[in-house]
Order: sequence, then structure tokens, then C-alpha cells
Amino acid sequence: MVDCFSKVMQHAAAWCWQPLVGLVLVVVCVGSSLACPSRCECSAQTKAVVCHRKRMPTIPDGIPTETRVLDLSKNKLTMINPDDFLNFPGLEELDLSGNIISYVEPGAFNALFNMHSLSLKSNRIKLIPLGVFSALNNLTRLDISDNKIVILLDYMFQDLHNLRFLEVGDNDLVYISHRAFSGLLSLEILTLERCNLTVVPTEALSHLHNLVSLHLRYLSISTLHPYSFKKLFRLRKLEIDNWPSLDSIPPNTLHGLNLTALFVTNTNLSSFPDQALKHLPFLTHLNLSHNRIRHIKGGMLSELVRLRELHLVGAQLTAIEPYAFQGLRQLKVLNVSHNRLDTLEKDVFQSPETLEVLLIDNNPLVCDCRLMWILQKRHTIFFGDSQPECSTPEGIRGRPFREFKETLLSYYVTCTKPKIRENKTQTVTVDEGQQAVLRCTADGTPRPVVIWLSPRRRTLTNRSHGRVTVHNNGTLEIKSAEIQDNGVYLCLASNTAGNDTLMTSLAVKSLGSLYANRTLYYTDASNNTANATGSVSLGLDLKTILVSTAMGCFTFLGVVLFCFLLLFVWSRGKGKHKNNIDVEYVPRSKSNGTNVDSAEAQAGRRFNMKMM
Ligand SMILES: *[C@@H]1O[C@H](CO)[C@@H](O)[C@H](O)[C@H]1NC(C)=O
Ligand SMILES: *[C@@H]1O[C@H](CO)[C@@H](O)[C@H](O)[C@H]1NC(C)=O
Ligand SMILES: *[C@@H]1O[C@H](CO)[C@@H](O)[C@H](O)[C@H]1NC(C)=O
Ligand SMILES: *[C@@H]1O[C@H](CO)[C@@H](O)[C@H](O)[C@H]1NC(C)=O
Ligand SMILES: *[C@@H]1O[C@H](CO)[C@@H](O)[C@H](O)[C@H]1NC(C)=O
Ligand SMILES: *[C@@H]1O[C@H](CO)[C@@H](O)[C@H](O)[C@H]1NC(C)=O
Ligand SMILES: *[C@@H]1O[C@H](CO)[C@@H](O)[C@H](O)[C@H]1NC(C)=O
Ligand SMILES: *[C@@H]1O[C@H](CO)[C@@H](O)[C@H](O)[C@H]1NC(C)=O
Ligand SMILES: *[C@@H]1O[C@H](CO)[C@@H](O)[C@H](O)[C@H]1NC(C)=O
Ligand SMILES: *[C@@H]1O[C@H](CO)[C@@H](O)[C@H](O)[C@H]1NC(C)=O
Ligand SMILES: *[C@@H]1O[C@H](CO)[C@@H](O)[C@H](O)[C@H]1NC(C)=O
Ligand SMILES: *[C@@H]1O[C@H](CO)[C@@H](O)[C@H](O)[C@H]1NC(C)=O
Repeated sequence: MVDCFSKVMQHAAAWCWQPLVGLVLVVVCVGSSLACPSRCECSAQTKAVVCHRKRMPTIPDGIPTETRVLDLSKNKLTMINPDDFLNFPGLEELDLSGNIISYVEPGAFNALFNMHSLSLKSNRIKLIPLGVFSALNNLTRLDISDNKIVILLDYMFQDLHNLRFLEVGDNDLVYISHRAFSGLLSLEILTLERCNLTVVPTEALSHLHNLVSLHLRYLSISTLHPYSFKKLFRLRKLEIDNWPSLDSIPPNTLHGLNLTALFVTNTNLSSFPDQALKHLPFLTHLNLSHNRIRHIKGGMLSELVRLRELHLVGAQLTAIEPYAFQGLRQLKVLNVSHNRLDTLEKDVFQSPETLEVLLIDNNPLVCDCRLMWILQKRHTIFFGDSQPECSTPEGIRGRPFREFKETLLSYYVTCTKPKIRENKTQTVTVDEGQQAVLRCTADGTPRPVVIWLSPRRRTLTNRSHGRVTVHNNGTLEIKSAEIQDNGVYLCLASNTAGNDTLMTSLAVKSLGSLYANRTLYYTDASNNTANATGSVSLGLDLKTILVSTAMGCFTFLGVVLFCFLLLFVWSRGKGKHKNNIDVEYVPRSKSNGTNVDSAEAQAGRRFNMKMM
């Protein structure tokens, strides 16, 4: 009979989780002489007692003292008392998950020196008092996730020197006390997820000197502070996932870390966190998927010299600029599917030949000569499960890369030199103060980039702001032309295939006396109710200026004299032996007079003056 039992149990190890199978087992082995609580399944060989999903309100009687593995999950236990486990010093694994435990008495697990694994997952614990985990020196795995814990107290894990895995997620955690993780010298992996934390618990984490992997998921933290991760000398993998309100990573946030893998995914990040990634020369894996990042600019990643995999899937990437991956000699995997890229040029890469995996599907790719290098490698590069396709030109739209025939390549995948539509010599004449518009419409594949050179050889691009702008269609616009804008402007339209130029001269007609017209312009623009045609001036005549200057001087002199008088009187009153004066002043903050934010400014400054 015992034989039958252990045989069946051996077999059942994988199956007995299902209550039905368990029930059958109990029936088969009924009458077994082995001590086993009723309705539970016991294995003599592994010394395991499984009382899973039995609606038990208390810990059942009859558990053999030599039990090593005890599964009490999914029952109706409400409390753990100090004497509950006194008789099982050999217990190594205890599963109390899925009960309705709301309180654990300190010392409840005191006798369990050999315990390796303890799960209190999915209960209703609000607070774990000090002393609950004391004596659990051999514990390597502890799961207290999915409870109602609001705060982790100082020293609550103090004795768990051998703990390697700790699950505390899915609680109502609002605060982690600064020394809560003190003593967790062996902890290697920590997951903090679905909590109500609003800041990274920097101080608490700084006790985890051997932490290798830190996962921070589903948090509503909106700001990361500089030096957020201190003293985590061994940390190699950091995951920040599903922080919907995080929109930037300040430059020094990751300072002090030596990561090999970094995930910042599903956040509100809108620009590439290149500054924060500096000083991570050992980084090999970077995953920035599902953010709102739009550009990767040239040279941004040049310090990540060991980067092998970059994943930036499902973002809003519109451009990976030339030399973006400069310095990345080992880049093997680039995963940029589901973005808005129209191309990916060869000069983006430091060494295009090391690229083995390129996921670029689900992008509006323009198949012209810029993509030729990828198409030529289409049989050696791995494109993943869904092949990239061209969205233009028309003739090859929707055709998967791998199905391209050589003849198609040379026919469609081409570029044409820019050609500027406007007549080669044109002159634009405007009145001073008027808007000047200089056109330069260029055709070509890929769409040419237009820049302008001013008569003074200043480069004007669509990134220029202010009075002079260049629109995306190539038009140069000067909002209100000035005399000094006169001259010949050069338009340069260029793409990979070549360039075309156009000269346009701009003549700005002077409108006579600058002063009178300026005045007029001023009153008009500010929509003064005053009459523009009347004798409206700026309201400054010579007399006024003289009077106000004089007034200013008098006031200033008066104040100075008054001060000296005061000092004089004061020094007399103070006696002759003390002639040092401390003058304290608080410098005005640059940004805003009332909100003095630097500590130095708050402290004020002292001056020491010697009276003669
Ligand atoms: C538990 O830890 C003690 C020392 O703290 C050690 O002597 C003992 O062998 C360990 N037991 C197990 C099962 O690892
Ligand atoms: C934590 O957040 C959840 C969801 O936002 C909320 O229901 C719960 O009341 C919060 N708990 C605490 C302790 O603030
Ligand atoms: C993400 O950023 C955008 C723009 O900065 C803002 O409008 C939006 O509310 C942010 N989303 C969240 C969840 O904070
Ligand atoms: C950083 O990590 C790498 C790889 O884990 C290791 O080789 C290197 O020595 C570490 N550097 C420092 C300064 O700890
Ligand atoms: C990158 O992160 C996303 C989102 O968390 C995840 O789905 C994906 O598997 C990650 N990619 C890799 C290669 O780890
Ligand atoms: C590319 O990214 C997707 C989503 O992040 C991920 O599931 C996939 O595993 C990645 N592919 C490779 C080859 O890393
Ligand atoms: C360009 O010049 C041609 C004649 O050389 C003229 O017919 C045409 O109207 C001009 N176009 C523009 C836009 O000025
Ligand atoms: C160019 O774009 C600007 C602003 O979008 C527009 O005002 C102008 O009419 C356009 N010019 C041409 C030639 O299309
Ligand atoms: C324009 O193209 C010519 C050759 O067609 C080339 O010599 C020249 O360097 C190019 N200029 C610019 C600014 O690209
Ligand atoms: C001022 O500008 C107007 C047009 O706005 C012009 O008619 C007038 O002659 C200018 N005044 C002088 C003094 O030149
Ligand atoms: C200028 O003032 C008039 C009447 O006072 C008003 O109708 C008009 O909207 C104003 N224009 C601007 C640009 O403020
Ligand atoms: C402008 O001035 C003229 C003459 O000085 C006057 O007749 C007219 O009513 C004034 N208009 C306004 C809006 O003040």
C-alpha cells in the first residue's frame, strides 16, 4: 500500500495540482497507514504534504513532523500563530498563498531554521511586524506579493542573509522605510511592481549591495531624480516598465551604475535619453520600446561601445540620422519595427557588416537608393517573422523584401537628382517691414532637403527660428523685411543623388525716415486706441528724458547720503572700540524674485566692512 502510494505520488507530482486528479488519488490510496491529514495528499518519499484548495479554516492536524514541503495554498486560513509550525523543524518549503491571512504573529516561523522558500502571496496582510522573519537564516525565496501591505518597516528582513529572491509587488506600498532592506546581503533579484510608490526608494535600495537585477514595473512614478540608484555596485540589469507618467530621464539618474541591460519601456518618454546613458560603457542590451521617442541623432550613442542589441519598437521614430550609431562596432540586433521610419541609411551604422538581425517591418519605407544596401543583403540579414515592405514607389508597394528580383532592384530602387522648379534668376521686391517670400520648390527622389544661404553666408534651415524661417516646402520667409536683408540668397536642394541650386535676389525698398515709420508701426502693432495718423510718438521727448534722469540721479544720491548718515550715527552709538560692520544681503534669484531656490542664496552672504 505504501508502495502504491509513493509510486502514485511520484507520478502525481506533476498532476496532483488539479483537484480532480487529487481526489482520485485519495480514493485509490485510502487506508494508507502513513500519517497524513485527512483530505491532504502526502508523499513519503519527498516528505511533502499537499493540502491545496481544501477550504481549510485552520492548519490541519496530523501533519508528520518530518515534513519538508507543506502546501496550504488556496485555503481559508486567517491567521498564523507562533505555535502553528513549532513541530516541523525540518520544513524547507511552506506555501501559504491564496488564503485570507490578515495577520502573522512575530515569531510564527521561529523554529523553521531549514526553511528555503516561504510564500505568503495573495493574502490580506496589511502590516508585517518586526520579528516575523527572524531566524529564517536559510530562506532563499520569499514571496509577500499581492497583499495589502502599505509600508515596509526598518529591519523587517534583517535576518534573511541568504535570501536571493524577494517578491513584494502588487501591494498598496506607499513607503519603503530607509532601512527596510537592511540585511538582505544575498538578494540578487528584486521586483517592485504595481505599488503606490511615487518616488524610487533610493535609500532603501542602497542596502542591496549584491543586487544583480532590479525590476520596477507598473508604477506611477512621474519623475526620476539624479542619483536614483546609489551603491548598487553589482546591478547589471535594470527594468523600468509601464510608468505611464514618466516623461524624462535626467542626465545623472543612472550615475554610479554599471549596467549590461537596460529596459525603459512603456513610458511617456519623448526624447532619446542619451545624456542618462553616458557612463554605461558595458551596456550590451538596450530596450526603449513603446515610448514616444521621435529621433535618434548622430553620435548620441557613441559611448555605448559594447552595445549589441537595440530595441526601439512601437515608438514614434521618424528619423535615425546619419552617424546615429557611431562608435557601436558590435551592434548585431536592431529592432525598430512599428515606427514611422521612411528609410534607414547605411551611414547610420559604424559597421553595417556586423548587423545580423534587422527588424524594420511596419514602417512606411520608401524604397529608393538609400535602402539599396539593405535590399542587397536581403538573403543574409534576418528580418524576423514579418518581412519589411516598401510603401513607395507605387510599382513595388507591399512587396516583401525577400521577394525582390535583381531586375526590380535596378528598376525601382533608385534615386533622382533634385531639380528646382523656379526660374533660375528671379528677383523679389518688397517694402521695408513687409513679408518677403522666396520660393524654392525641388523635386527628386528621395525628397530633397532645402537649405538657404543668406547674403552674409548664414545657413538657414527648417530648424531656424525667429524672423527668418524655412518651410518644409523650401520657401524662405522673412517676417518683416529690413534694409539689411538685401542681397542674393542661394537655395541649395540636395539628396543622396546630388544637388541643385537657385539664386534669388531680394530688394527691400526703404520707406524713408526710419524713425517716423517705426513710430507708426509701433502704435499700429500694439493696437493702441491712439490715433495712428496724429502726432503719436513713443511718448519720449527730450524734456521728459532729462527730467527723469535728473530725478533718478537725485534719488540715488539721496539714498547714498542717507546711508552714510545712518552708518555714521550708528557707529557713534555703538562706541569707538568696534568698527566692523556686518552687512547681510540675500541676492535676488535670477528666475524670480520671491522664489529663491539655491541654498546658497537662501543662506545669504555676509560682507565685512571696516570703518575708517
Ligand atoms: C541552515 O543554516 C545553518 C547556519 O545558519 C546551517 O548550519 C545549516 O546547514 C543550514 N541548513 C540548510 C538545510 O541549509
Ligand atoms: C493604491 O492605488 C490604488 C489604485 O490607484 C488605490 O485603489 C489604493 O487605494 C491605493 N492605496 C493606498 C494605500 O494609497
Ligand atoms: C504624456 O505626455 C504628453 C505630452 O507631454 C501629455 O499630454 C500626456 O498627458 C502625458 N501622458 C501621461 C500619462 O502623463
Ligand atoms: C562593469 O561590469 C562589467 C561586466 O559585468 C565588468 O567586467 C566591469 O569590471 C565592471 N566595471 C566596474 C567599474 O565595476
Ligand atoms: C523590450 O521591451 C518590450 C516591452 O516591455 C518587450 O515586450 C520586449 O520583449 C522587449 N524586447 C526584448 C528583446 O527583450
Ligand atoms: C523585437 O522586439 C519585439 C518587441 O519588443 C520582441 O518581441 C522581439 O523579440 C524582438 N525581436 C528580436 C529578434 O529581438
Ligand atoms: C519662368 O520663365 C519662363 C520663360 O523663361 C516663363 O514663361 C515663366 O512664366 C517663368 N515662370 C515663373 C514662375 O516665373
Ligand atoms: C510653403 O509652406 C508655407 C507654410 O506651410 C505656405 O504658406 C506656402 O504657401 C507654401 N509655399 C508653396 C510654394 O507651396
Ligand atoms: C553638389 O553636387 C556637386 C556635384 O553634382 C558636388 O560637387 C557638390 O559638392 C555638391 N554640393 C553640395 C553642397 O552637396
Ligand atoms: C512712412 O511709411 C509710409 C507707408 O507706410 C510712407 O507712405 C511714408 O512716406 C513714410 N514716411 C516717411 C516720412 O517717409
Ligand atoms: C485692434 O482694436 C480693434 C478695436 O479696438 C479690435 O477690433 C481689433 O481686434 C484689434 N486688433 C488686434 C490685432 O488686437
Ligand atoms: C484720429 O484723428 C483724427 C484727427 O486727429 C480724428 O478725426 C479721428 O477721430 C481720430 N480717430 C480715432 C479713432 O481716435
